Amino acid sequence: MFLIISGNPKTDGLCHSVTEAVQRGAAEAGENVQTLTVAALERCHVCGNGWGKCLTEHACAFGGDGYDEAVEFVRKADKICIITPVYWGEMAEGLKSFFDRLRRCENVIRGSGALAGKPVLLIASPGGSGNGALSCLEQMERFCRHTGAVIFDYISVNRWNQDYKRESAYAAAKAIAGGRKAGETLQTE
Ligand SMILES: Cc1cc2nc3c(=O)[nH]c(=O)nc-3n(C[C@H](O)[C@H](O)[C@H](O)COP(=O)(O)O)c2cc1C
Repeated sequence: MFLIISGNPKTDGLCHSVTEAVQRGAAEAGENVQTLTVAALERCHVCGNGWGKCLTEHACAFGGDGYDEAVEFVRKADKICIITPVYWGEMAEGLKSFFDRLRRCENVIRGSGALAGKPVLLIASPGGSGNGALSCLEQMERFCRHTGAVIFDYISVNRWNQDYKRESAYAAAKAIAGGRKAGETLQTE
């Protein structure tokens, strides 16, 4: 299953259109495509002195808000795209909340976590000034390092490059869904 983890709270606009392109690309390669939107998850409660059940039991004490379900979904995925609008040069708050909690739960089990070893496509969509794409992608990259995900590619799409960058997102999703691995050398055309 190809899973799109989205931090986008909107159901129209630039980021949504890129999400649709990713869905199309992965589906055309024959994948079962699912989309998980985590725009409304609660933030980490920072239990105890900084650690809670996340450290000892690898679970969140407040997982009933949709967090547990979201992690199960991610666990079932084989290939992943993480997509977010850029807010303040960072990923959207709901996505950050999900990742804050997940990386805590996987702190000492990162080799067997929900994203470990899986190819991940990172997409940031800065729709305003266009600033903050790099810092947002860097933030997502750090999360992947913390969870053992294998980054396949980094794409940013803004208002004035969306025609050709949306196509890149489509093509990248199709390549991952078709089984291409990060590090594979393609024949030069
Ligand atoms: C709170 C907030 C902060 C934002 N910060 C940025 C930013 O730092 N850089 C940028 O280019 N756009 C910024 N934007 C615009 C969004 O990136 C834009 O709405 C989204 O990425 C893509 O457009 P869409 O809303 O049509 O999907 C911000 C939007 C909001 C709501």
